Amino acid sequence: MAQRARIVGELGEIVGPERVLDAPSDLEHYGRDWTRQLAPDPSAVVLPATVDELQSIVRWARRSGVALVPSGGRTGLSGGAVAANGEVVVAMDRMNRILDFDAAGRLLRVQAGVVTEAVQKRAAELGLYYPVDFASRGSSQIGGNIATNAGGIKVLRYGMTRRWVAGLTVVTGAGEVLELNRGLVKNATGYDLRQLFIGSEGTLGFVVEAELELTDPPPEQQVMVLAVPGIDQLMPVFERLRRGLRLSAFEFFTDLALEQVLAHGGQAPFESRAPFYLLAEFDADEGAALACFEACADAGEVVDGVISQSHAQAAALWRLREGITEALAPRTPYKNDVSVRVGCLPVFLSRMQALFEREYPDFEVVWFGHLGDGNLHISILRPAALSAEAFLAECGRVTGLLADTLGALGGSISAEHGLGLLKKPWLDRVKSDAEIALMRALRPVFDPDGILNPGKLV
Ligand code: MLT
Ligand code: ZN
Repeated sequence: MAQRARIVGELGEIVGPERVLDAPSDLEHYGRDWTRQLAPDPSAVVLPATVDELQSIVRWARRSGVALVPSGGRTGLSGGAVAANGEVVVAMDRMNRILDFDAAGRLLRVQAGVVTEAVQKRAAELGLYYPVDFASRGSSQIGGNIATNAGGIKVLRYGMTRRWVAGLTVVTGAGEVLELNRGLVKNATGYDLRQLFIGSEGTLGFVVEAELELTDPPPEQQVMVLAVPGIDQLMPVFERLRRGLRLSAFEFFTDLALEQVLAHGGQAPFESRAPFYLLAEFDADEGAALACFEACADAGEVVDGVISQSHAQAAALWRLREGITEALAPRTPYKNDVSVRVGCLPVFLSRMQALFEREYPDFEVVWFGHLGDGNLHISILRPAALSAEAFLAECGRVTGLLADTLGALGGSISAEHGLGLLKKPWLDRVKSDAEIALMRALRPVFDPDGILNPGKLV
């Protein structure tokens, strides 16, 4: 207790007492992310407003040996922003300004605490487009997106966050400020440390500012939802749609996922029910979309479908897919977030189906995700009769088997959610010992005293 009071007092001297929080409700709120398996227990929360303050906090942490957990919108799903061991949470909420726009380079300079949706809106006001998009757009922050190399629903067309970061300012675990790449398109001066920081999950430093590249807005979009009778038909439909339409997203979910969303107030897309549904977003072309639908139907690959006729209908169809996480949240699912090369999806899907049928015979397993880029989300729901501990242990055991399947196919145990605390145990199934050793060796180069997000990632 005395230690916590000392921490609060010393941080208060750096940023002012009003920007250090230690009320139990604040510690709980800032100490966890969207994963609910881990109990938060930070010592304090500090909200720096400037790079200088952040540097002083890092220097203080080095002197006093207190660990720091960088914290954005805390929408992560792997425990990367959880403070469960008396760490100090450094929340970037006060560094939330959009700083300037370089029209020639189409670069928007923002502070780390700017919310994703605010970047998307500013881009639209400028007649441009920021294409990184996902359901948590309203609360996730750019710094967190960069720290996890966020993906989402438009990766098929636009790539991950990494693709859109032209410049990055960071404060390392040593307290140094680095300005990386400075918005250059071409820069052949050796190692690109900017890319190393993207996806580093707060283990090398704090993202404080980013220059984000904006692009042309896409043409008018339409959304199609298709009912698919079996697992073997999913990829043939992708092939047809990819040939016939200009796709921006290609998502899928199972009937169990739909059932959960409908139980949470969602509207059924059509009367038919099928084991799988596909959602495609594409540059509007009703004729081409109908032709694709008919070709799929003639081949027995789809049994029903709907094409949006308005923005409102497109948004309602998207809610069927984007509402899944929220609909499942009350059941505190165990989540897997995996990927394989798109070409490996047919074999992976059938191996995964066989594995789950064998290992989870009594569990409800909800599949959904970004099929077009090879990323599947698998949420396992706890049977009421099973204790939380027994459920976690069982899910961990099956995740090991899933990780082996992924390892054999060259896949990944975390496609976009990150390793955090939850997926770290299976890293060695998908990366070699040599690669992991190099990752470990990098940490102290940037964080000599090991104060940043200890226990996370590797
Ligand atoms: C999604 O695509 O909806 C997310 O990554 C969230 C999740 O897996 O729950
Ligand atoms: Zn996702």
